[in-house]
Amino acid sequence: MAAKAPEEGFTAEPFVPERGGLPALRRAAAECRGCPLHRDATQTVFGAGDAHARVMLVGEQPGDQEDRQGKPFVGPAGKLLDRALAEAGIDPDRAYVTNAVKHFKFTRAEPRKRRIHKAPALREMTACGPWLAAELAVVEPELIVVLGATAGKALLGSSFRVTRVRGTVLEEEIHGRRERLVPTVHPSAVLRADDRESAYDGFLSDLKVAARILE
Ligand code: URA
Ligand code: SF4
Repeated sequence: MAAKAPEEGFTAEPFVPERGGLPALRRAAAECRGCPLHRDATQTVFGAGDAHARVMLVGEQPGDQEDRQGKPFVGPAGKLLDRALAEAGIDPDRAYVTNAVKHFKFTRAEPRKRRIHKAPALREMTACGPWLAAELAVVEPELIVVLGATAGKALLGSSFRVTRVRGTVLEEEIHGRRERLVPTVHPSAVLRADDRESAYDGFLSDLKVAARILE
């Protein structure tokens, strides 16, 4: 009989505790072996911020800095995100910030060289989904800001297209809860854009849609 493909059945599910708040989830996530990404990364980067936040921001996965420091959005993309949030009228310190995938995925051009971010595959997003579901169940945000395509696919399915829905207010059933979401681009996309100024303006105007809901 053919062996089961190794990527089948990857899931964080058995590692997620049934009870307990964010501290219990964070402790358990540190031990997650739900998919192979934990092997090369330094540590699990769990969500951070206000446990009673009205707004949850969901990114893709930790980057190099986040992997070293163990906190989400502490690198260049995070700096830009904090600045844009404050400018839009959302206090970054009162938000809850997390990622669709909790371990850094990377390649190295050569051994010992800089680690280059690699986009997570659908199977890793699916494997890590139970952590995001658990965070949503505990924080119960009024609004989810979806940062880019990976977060969108993780929350809303693989047909999600950020260009089609950015800056709009969506209402969807996610893990049995009615959620309100405002999708926008990923802050890294703003940093990479040829016309950074207009990319930033677009990002800011999407975040202002989110800010209005929270008024
Ligand atoms: N990009 C993300 O999507 N998340 C982080 O935490 C950092 C960079
Ligand atoms: Fe677990 Fe997610 Fe890390 Fe995979 S990426 S090991 S599912 S925490």
